[in-house]
Amino acid sequence: MSDMSPDCLPVRYFCTAGNGMETFVVDEVKRKVEAQDVIKLQGKVIFSSPANIKSIINLKSAERLFLLLNYDTALKLPSTSTKDVSKVLGARLSTLLSWKVDLKNPHIEVNVNLTDDYCLQGIPLTKFPLANRNYIQTTGLRSTIAWAMASVAQIQAGSFVVDPMCGVGTILIEAAKEHSDVYFLGIDIDDEQLIKANRNVAYAHLEDKIQVIKASSLVLPLHSESVDAVVCDLPFGRKFGTKVDAAINLPLILSEMTRVLRVGGILVLLLSPQLSCQIKRLLTQEKSNSVV
Ligand SMILES: C[S@@+](CC[C@H](N)C(=O)[O-])C[C@H]1O[C@@H](n2cnc3c(N)ncnc32)[C@H](O)[C@@H]1O
Repeated sequence: MSDMSPDCLPVRYFCTAGNGMETFVVDEVKRKVEAQDVIKLQGKVIFSSPANIKSIINLKSAERLFLLLNYDTALKLPSTSTKDVSKVLGARLSTLLSWKVDLKNPHIEVNVNLTDDYCLQGIPLTKFPLANRNYIQTTGLRSTIAWAMASVAQIQAGSFVVDPMCGVGTILIEAAKEHSDVYFLGIDIDDEQLIKANRNVAYAHLEDKIQVIKASSLVLPLHSESVDAVVCDLPFGRKFGTKVDAAINLPLILSEMTRVLRVGGILVLLLSPQLSCQIKRLLTQEKSNSVV
């Protein structure tokens, strides 16, 4: 629930989002900070919210956050130098906000996003991107993507969630920060990754929620139908731990993941387009084999 006092007037913001993350940002701002008048653009989301700034800067799917000064879809700029563009935009902001613009000795940074369709102007509200997590020591998968993967896993209180190739544990940490009363297990074959994962878990103060163990995802040390959600960023196309491209083992890894999932459990995988095709082929084969 967002932190809101009854008399708070909505403030208009915009944030930037990674490729394909815009829908997650829209969903998160509506769910967590009672966003209204939401506009989804490529790589950006504009919204109004009455929530306390602490809730806004706690958004997990966005990259950078700005106070919106102006969203202009009718701006026609002469083809001219950057300096002249700054002058035109400065003059417009000055008219809009009655601010005195001094391009030589600025007091604040105004960020301008200029495309063929619109011009967005805003003041950055944080020094570092929201995507930089202060609770993660060693970064692995981009935190916004890890958070998005956890958010589609439909994690409920009382769930048992497993990342069978957890690396430094980013997905588990993002999920554990969001959900209480959930038990998370990370599995990895590589000792160095496991050391970093354990350090990350301790740094985030999540030792009571996340456990990390050494095992192979080819033979998961878990009972069949014992897991509510499997969330995994597969290492294919890259070489990890065993120094073997794990794509060769894909059918076995998939069958282990589905074996441990309970009926109705959720499997969330981060895949390249090529790998996605390979998995669809495997699943189709599995279906036709079971029909025969
Ligand atoms: C893409 S990385 C995961 C990154 C992770 N999401 C993070 O944020 O750090 C894939 C991981 O799979 C592990 N791995 C590779 N083969 C494995 C296997 N057979 N069993 C378990 N883990 C394996 C690698 O050691 C590596 O840490």
